[in-house]
Amino acid sequence: MLQGPATPARLNKYLLLAVPKNHGMRALDIIEAKGFINANATFTEIHSAVSVAEVQFLRELISQGRPRRTLEIGCALGISSLAICELIGPDAHHTIIDPFQSTDWKGHGLFNLSQAGFQNFKLVEERSEYVLPRLCQEGASFDFVFVDGWHTFDHVMMEFFYIDRMLPVGGIVAFDDILLPCLNRLMRYISRYPNYESLGCRGRQDGLTIFRRGLFALRTLVGWMCLPLGNRLRGELLHDGVVRSDASISLNGSITAFRKTSEDDRGWAWYEPF
Ligand SMILES: C[S@@+](CC[C@H](N)C(=O)[O-])C[C@H]1O[C@@H](n2cnc3c(N)ncnc32)[C@H](O)[C@@H]1O
Repeated sequence: MLQGPATPARLNKYLLLAVPKNHGMRALDIIEAKGFINANATFTEIHSAVSVAEVQFLRELISQGRPRRTLEIGCALGISSLAICELIGPDAHHTIIDPFQSTDWKGHGLFNLSQAGFQNFKLVEERSEYVLPRLCQEGASFDFVFVDGWHTFDHVMMEFFYIDRMLPVGGIVAFDDILLPCLNRLMRYISRYPNYESLGCRGRQDGLTIFRRGLFALRTLVGWMCLPLGNRLRGELLHDGVVRSDASISLNGSITAFRKTSEDDRGWAWYEPF
């Protein structure tokens, strides 16, 4: 067992001794070790990856739905991909989209998946903005989708637009990094869709800056002061974060998910303040 602080250098030495080269580490092993031995037999420290709480949330979601076909946007070092490939089992199939796996990520995600022995996945090394419309046009369908790619509001909105069309009723879509203001805002919009229900959230809010914590406190205060306006006017005039707190719509975590409850029957000009 590793004694003392787990610096990358000490972990590297420890793992090189303790873990056989053909190790096949799973998601939680790698998160616990804070890294893995890569194809060049050196230690790669993990970053930009799902946490233990987020893997547990993925586990809960996948065990609820027992999906046969799953989709993921954003592989990076492969931590969430490892978790999903393991959770869905060998008879289901996972499609992973990541245009930068070979370049920015040096193939580490793919390496981890192959070391773990998974064969139930396919990696598409193209941008989601090109792959998703194509999959949609081909009539693809996915029971579970995990979105963790490029995080701007418009980009993830575009991804959700296509995912919605490929998700059957009962299907689940999960989003990571919802603490980001852009994704918090988008989750507020999606939470307004009449044919989706929130499945809650997980992960801690400790990534929030002091500014945002102060802002939330101020919003609560403004919300109280504006109560006499009534729900309709408050919804039209105020920021949605004042009218509907993060906690009240299960956005007070770092990962959230929605289940599709029926087909989309919104009218051509549907809109709800968000
Ligand atoms: C936060 S990382 C994903 C982490 C991974 N889900 C995990 O938990 O182990 C974001 C990923 O999005 C990918 N990405 C960036 N732009 C993208 C795009 N246009 N389409 C799909 N993926 C993209 C990046 O290459 C990167 O691998």
